[in-house]
Amino acid sequence: MKYGYFDNDNREYVITRPDVPAPWTNYLGTEKFCTVISHNAGGYSFYKSPEYNRITKFRPNATFDRPGHYVYLRDDISGDYWSISWQPVAKSLDEAKYEVRHGLSYSKFKCEYNGITAQKTLFVPKGEDAEIWDIVLKNDSDTPRTISAFSFVEFSFSHIQSDNQNHQMSLYSSGTSYHDGVLLYDLYYNTNEYEGFYYLASSFEPDSYDGQRASFIGLYRDEANPIAVEKGRCSNHVQTCYNQCGALHKQLTLQPGEEVRFNFILGLGKHEGARLREKYQNFTNVDAAFNEIKAHWDTRCNKFRVKSPNPGLDTMINAWTLYQAETCVVWSRFASFIEVGGRTGLGYRDTAQDSMAVPHTNPQMTKKRILDLLRGQVKEGYGLHLFDPDWFDPEMEDVAPSKSPTVVPTPSDEDKIHGLADTCSDDALWLVPTICRYVMETGETGFFDEVITYADGGEGTVYEHMTRILDFSARHVGQTGICKGLRADWNDCLNLGGGESAMVSFLHYWALQEFVDCANFLGKHSDADKYATMAEGVRQACETHLWDGDWYIRGITKNGEKIGTSIQTEGKVHLESNTWAVVSGAASPERGRKAMDSVDQYLYSPYGLHLNAPSFATPNDDIGFVTRVYQGVKENGAIFSHPNPWAWVAEAKLGRGDQAMKFYDALNPYNQNDMIEVRHAEPYSYVQFVMGRDHLDHGRANHPWLTGSSGWAYIAATNWILGVRLSFDGLIVDPCIPTDWPGFEVTREWRGATYHIRVENPVHVSKGVKSISLNGEDIEGAITPQAEGSVNTITVVMG
Ligand code: GLC
Repeated sequence: MKYGYFDNDNREYVITRPDVPAPWTNYLGTEKFCTVISHNAGGYSFYKSPEYNRITKFRPNATFDRPGHYVYLRDDISGDYWSISWQPVAKSLDEAKYEVRHGLSYSKFKCEYNGITAQKTLFVPKGEDAEIWDIVLKNDSDTPRTISAFSFVEFSFSHIQSDNQNHQMSLYSSGTSYHDGVLLYDLYYNTNEYEGFYYLASSFEPDSYDGQRASFIGLYRDEANPIAVEKGRCSNHVQTCYNQCGALHKQLTLQPGEEVRFNFILGLGKHEGARLREKYQNFTNVDAAFNEIKAHWDTRCNKFRVKSPNPGLDTMINAWTLYQAETCVVWSRFASFIEVGGRTGLGYRDTAQDSMAVPHTNPQMTKKRILDLLRGQVKEGYGLHLFDPDWFDPEMEDVAPSKSPTVVPTPSDEDKIHGLADTCSDDALWLVPTICRYVMETGETGFFDEVITYADGGEGTVYEHMTRILDFSARHVGQTGICKGLRADWNDCLNLGGGESAMVSFLHYWALQEFVDCANFLGKHSDADKYATMAEGVRQACETHLWDGDWYIRGITKNGEKIGTSIQTEGKVHLESNTWAVVSGAASPERGRKAMDSVDQYLYSPYGLHLNAPSFATPNDDIGFVTRVYQGVKENGAIFSHPNPWAWVAEAKLGRGDQAMKFYDALNPYNQNDMIEVRHAEPYSYVQFVMGRDHLDHGRANHPWLTGSSGWAYIAATNWILGVRLSFDGLIVDPCIPTDWPGFEVTREWRGATYHIRVENPVHVSKGVKSISLNGEDIEGAITPQAEGSVNTITVVMG
């Protein structure tokens, strides 16, 4: 069953049926102000942090995605009313036609009902901490119409926790006032003239307004039937205390065929409402701001464009997967309809991996995140698993005190640093390759020498931080020399403590090799030799202790029991260890092929690869919480999306392009656009996990947007399947594609130059480059950066 389609020309997903089985969301904002909004206009805004500076309220876990950023329309002759988004009024779909276009950082809602066509475009202009609601109404009937328009948002008490609990202090220390088209909400306890005030303004002079939720909605009613809309007028009720809202109302008369345009602006800052109201009363400024958002994404999407025989891959790589990966980097993993901000900060491993995907489109943010993580690393070499970047960033000090009224104090310096027992064995390892990728992209070699503090005091260069990460893993090994699992490895639910993690040793091996390349590039050859020797030791330990005959095991418990062997009936084959054995290069080609054949045999499903199979059915605390998660769900035998792209990289490294594409296509949400009755979630977003075959809902997709699968899907498809990637020596083109592909084209921008890459595959191989030319000249090896502004042609013939 389908609910919409991809409009590639506009980079939009168009929802034509609003009654989708789950809210389909989008992210508005590219800088500090963010709105998470559903196709029903349900959702919430925040400034910088979804935990501390929430502008509008949202109540998660309800059957409705409410409240939201709503516009109601009322026919003032008949009294009939509706909303431009299908919810909350929810007119019958036989009477009203709705269309939602989720674009990159904007959403457009359109409704045709009873002779009125209404459009509402929501976006956050660059350079402003505000959301514009650009509204156009058109009278498509042949009689004059008198229509009342009402906006509605529920203001938040600023802290997520107080939102959910009607926090006493907040209820009695906030209020609203009204002045000249601006409904101002103040958090009385917060003296900051910017962060202590939120507003809703309109381009028109309102006929009426409300600042009290109870006045607008009315008793024993909800957003579907607000009393103000029913009556056709707000009660001009603003005052201190209780639950506040922003509602502005205007009556409009439209002649047949007439169109009117107006806007609402939602934002923060005591004086900002008046300023932006004036600015955006001029619609040229609205159009310019919208075009800037379009240009923002044009620039980014143009950094890597592909034209291949696989339309699903092209759609996702040219827009959606990049967009999703950037969303994770810019807003971190804690603002969605699932994680609504109660837990915020940076997940160490999550941010390190997400940032690996976007140095070409967002080098500034990639660098910022790397710095955040370096500051969150302790001298001993591990990373703080989850932390707030404000804790260690001197530039953020001014922001911290205004954060919250009486809830959740910032932890003491001591409490910020967790010990070894709470350390995840993989966390910091991911950062080593990410730093390398950043420098390969930007050429900013001096970054390695920058001096950064450690979370627990002291400082060291970026390069030293990297060595400490690698040394930490070398020190924390178990009896067989394989890295200890500690609190968890990549898999949060695999809690091995002093037991050993195969995946982390493979990861260590990978990071070590990246570092050896880096040290050689910097001319630090003795370091390169030292870490190459360390790498070889790790490889030998892996090959000696982790091979089971047809695949690699997942780990060893602290009691010496192997996890993931052929004699086991649950948790027999695991995706993480087998993919990383190959991705890291530790596995011999023969074992690598066998391991990935086992992955196909035991873990493949048409929705993607399972994380482990069969799922665990017997609780076993030596293995971890994974054994206490229901079968087929999340880390216990679901199709966990994040590691799926590791399998594409593994197959690409083995040279098996048909397998790589089989696995790619299975997970690609684009391919499930006509199976929404099974999938439920958005077809333009990877999700955290899809129910596995051991669950009744096999195929149902859960937790969209904020998942490492976006970054990794992007890296795996662009760098390894299409094979366009960077090394310290330059640009490499080394594809691994399905044998039926005659070729493909990529345009890549790198350090100010453009490269049009044309790959031809005349004899239908998967891998192997016969010749490569740059601007007509045959070359060997990597392509060094060409002059800034130059446009270059690269032709690659496979064979
Ligand atoms: C979640 C976590 C991530 C972890 C994964 C597997 O996505 O955010 O850190 O690696 O689950 O447990």
